[in-house]
Amino acid sequence: AVAPKDKTVKDYIRTIVDFPHEGIMFRDVTTLFADPRGFRMAVDQMLHPYAGQRIDKVVGLEARGFILGGAIAHQLGTGFVPVRKKGKLPGKTISEAYTLEYGEAIVELHEDAIEPGETILLVDDLLATGGTAEAGIKLIERLGGKILSCAFVIDLPELGGRKKLEAMGMDVSVLCE
Ligand code: PRP
Ligand code: ADE
Repeated sequence: AVAPKDKTVKDYIRTIVDFPHEGIMFRDVTTLFADPRGFRMAVDQMLHPYAGQRIDKVVGLEARGFILGGAIAHQLGTGFVPVRKKGKLPGKTISEAYTLEYGEAIVELHEDAIEPGETILLVDDLLATGGTAEAGIKLIERLGGKILSCAFVIDLPELGGRKKLEAMGMDVSVLCE
C-alpha cells in the first residue's frame, strides 16, 4: 500500500465494476471525499491553475460537482451556483437535455443565477462522454456567462469528453485519468 504522505488524488478513488449497470467501470469518489488529506488535495489542485485570475462564480453540476464546487467557491470567496436535475430548482429555470455514459437526463439552471459577462468556473468530479458538462456549458452561455475553464478530478479519455469540450473552445483541466 502507498504511504499516506505519498498518495496522489487518484490513489483515493476506487473503481466499482458493473455499476450502475453491466459494462460500466464506475469511478467512486466517495472515498476521496471521505479522506481529509484526499479531499483537501483535490480541492487545492483544482484551484491551482486559476490563482490570481478573476472568477465571479463557481457553477457545480449535480451531485458530486456540488461537493467540490462548494469547497472551491468557499476557498475562492465567490458565490456558488448549482446546475440541477430537472424539477429541483424552485425559481424560473432554463433547461437542457443531454446523454451521459449510462443514461439521459435534463438539467436546469435558475435564469437569474448568472449575470451577463460574469466569469464562471464550471466544476464536476468526472468527465466521461462530456454530455453533462456540455449541457452545463450551454446553460451558462445562454445566460451570457463567460466560462474561464471546466475543472474535473477525473477524465476518462476513451469516452471523448475532453475532446468534445475543447472542440467547443473550452479550457479543460483534470487531475487524473
Ligand atoms: C456523473 C458525473 C458527471 C457525469 C459524467 O454524474 O458526476 O456529472 O456523470 O458523465 P458524462 O461526461 O458522460 O456526461 P451522474 O449523472 O451519475 O449524477 P450524480 O452525480 O447525481 O450521481
Ligand atoms: N459518470 C459517467 N461515467 C462515469 C463513471 N465511469 N464513473 C463515475 N461516474 C461516471
